[in-house]
Amino acid sequence: MSDRIFVDWTGDITARWGRDVVQIGHRLHASPLFTDEALARLIEVYPREHYDLHTMAVAREGHAAESWREGDLGRSTGEEVLDAIKGGHIWLNLRKVMLVSAPHGELLGRIFAEVESHVPGLSTFKHNLGILMSSPTAQVFYHADIPGQSLWQIRGRKRVFVYPTEAPFISPQEIERIILGEADEQDMTYQPWFDERARVVDLEPGQMLHWPLNGPHRVQNLDCFNISVTTEHWSPEIRASYAVHYANGILRRHGFSPAHGLTGPAAWAKMGLAALYKYSGAQKQRKYERFIDFVVDPKAPGGFADVPRRLRTEF
Ligand SMILES: [Fe+2]
Repeated sequence: MSDRIFVDWTGDITARWGRDVVQIGHRLHASPLFTDEALARLIEVYPREHYDLHTMAVAREGHAAESWREGDLGRSTGEEVLDAIKGGHIWLNLRKVMLVSAPHGELLGRIFAEVESHVPGLSTFKHNLGILMSSPTAQVFYHADIPGQSLWQIRGRKRVFVYPTEAPFISPQEIERIILGEADEQDMTYQPWFDERARVVDLEPGQMLHWPLNGPHRVQNLDCFNISVTTEHWSPEIRASYAVHYANGILRRHGFSPAHGLTGPAAWAKMGLAALYKYSGAQKQRKYERFIDFVVDPKAPGGFADVPRRLRTEF
């Protein structure tokens, strides 16, 4: 295996990186870090605070964020968890894998060193790597993420819809609610006609997608077990956008109607205000509560069994 991660990065991709949806060939799907054996071992040592397990409505179309449920891996072995995902209807996200597995951390460092080598002037930090394992019928509803996002396909196929980063697809107020911890990423307005404006890509193993910051997207698996990787990054521009949204959210909650300039003295003042709020802990009580109501059960239909609803922090 060559040392290079990307196989077909062109000057056109460099020009469009961060401004447009770009699709690039990669070699991650050939890595031994994503075999069933490697993933089963990783699942068995995974810290509770760093994974999310979900199930959701099966319906192929539309938006049913209220059907998004959260669960726990319980006492299943890694192989049992993989069997439950392959035969059931669940979605497992191992977040911050670089904190749990040094080889995945090393891969993450190589990914962004290579991205930066292709994009002059790009400086990234706070890299994050997640591994998504999901059932043939799983989907992720319309949402937007706060850091820079890329989605890498390892096994299986999925249909990715990426929408324009403008009204009515997303509003500054929606980004502010996510940043301030008042809303789940999926608590966004979605209309079926939005799909007419989406860039739709059927992602195959060996392909990755990167889209503009805060770009709304949704994902449907194409009737097969899926392994995907997500990478996140920050840059000075992304950090500035975050701080301005953060401060605008605070200002809006105090009766102001802020503008969203990313440069100039007002923007710098907002970055200061954002830092002040964030580190004073003033935003902490705004976090919404998360509940768990199922546990992995490879023998049950769907790959999980219901349990009495309890706070995620009680697991
Ligand atoms: Fe996302």
